[in-house]
Amino acid sequence: MESDSVIDQAYDSYTDEDHAVWQALYNRQTALLPGRVCPEFLAGLKTLAIAEDGIPEFSRLSDALEQLTGWRIVAVPGLIQDEIFFAHLAARRFPVTNWIRKRESMDYLQEPDVFHDLFGHVPLLTNPFFADYMAAYGRGGLKAMGLGTLDMLARLYWYTVEFGLIATPVGLRIYGAGIASSKGESLYCLDDPAPHRIHFDLKRILRSRYRIDDFQETYFVIDSFDSLVAATLPDFAPIYDAVRDLDEIPAGTLIPEDKPFDR
Ligand code: PHE
Ligand code: FE
Repeated sequence: MESDSVIDQAYDSYTDEDHAVWQALYNRQTALLPGRVCPEFLAGLKTLAIAEDGIPEFSRLSDALEQLTGWRIVAVPGLIQDEIFFAHLAARRFPVTNWIRKRESMDYLQEPDVFHDLFGHVPLLTNPFFADYMAAYGRGGLKAMGLGTLDMLARLYWYTVEFGLIATPVGLRIYGAGIASSKGESLYCLDDPAPHRIHFDLKRILRSRYRIDDFQETYFVIDSFDSLVAATLPDFAPIYDAVRDLDEIPAGTLIPEDKPFDR
């Protein structure tokens, strides 16, 4: 392994069972997602021809993706150091874990595997606005490390890239990878009356704690990918300074300024 944590995908090491697990997860999510996930995600799956019959080869996907938005996929062994992760994003390289879960863990995993990283994250990297957002996030991550504000910035990743919802003319849709790769949460986030769904608000998100052990209690709704890019374009240094003095907001708590999204 190099200091950038990149490894070979080791495509030939996947077993028939590994490919069958991919196929089962792929079939389950693609049956569920039309009408639930945003059209840009479905378009990305299709243009990249993300396969139903087995784990895709990263080099082939990278060549197709690079033509579209300049992004490539690199294989990594699992979670990598923050600084290395951000440097990859800033250089338009998306790190994807190379191993796949076992069949006993179809529904829940504590750490990302190739299904989450690839099926969940890569389709939207075909969208020019989202592609730019992810690269800007990488640069912002390196900057936040220097400022000591990574705990705040990490919440933005969580509530957009992993668990974001988007308002479309035909209704609320999923774009977060943590949702799109999960059967249970793909249903829950849209259908269950319990969670809060509130309009995107950058400062609010930077103050919002989150839970990693269960479905989210609050989702933030963006209007479009270009409005997400626009909202996160300004220099965050003064925003961090303003937010630092405010209380954190516990997961699932509403504050008076919250604008509930009504469908
Ligand atoms: N504009 C942010 C900053 O100055 C960087 C950023 C962009 C962070 C997009 C997240 C998403 O820190
Ligand atoms: Fe993820």
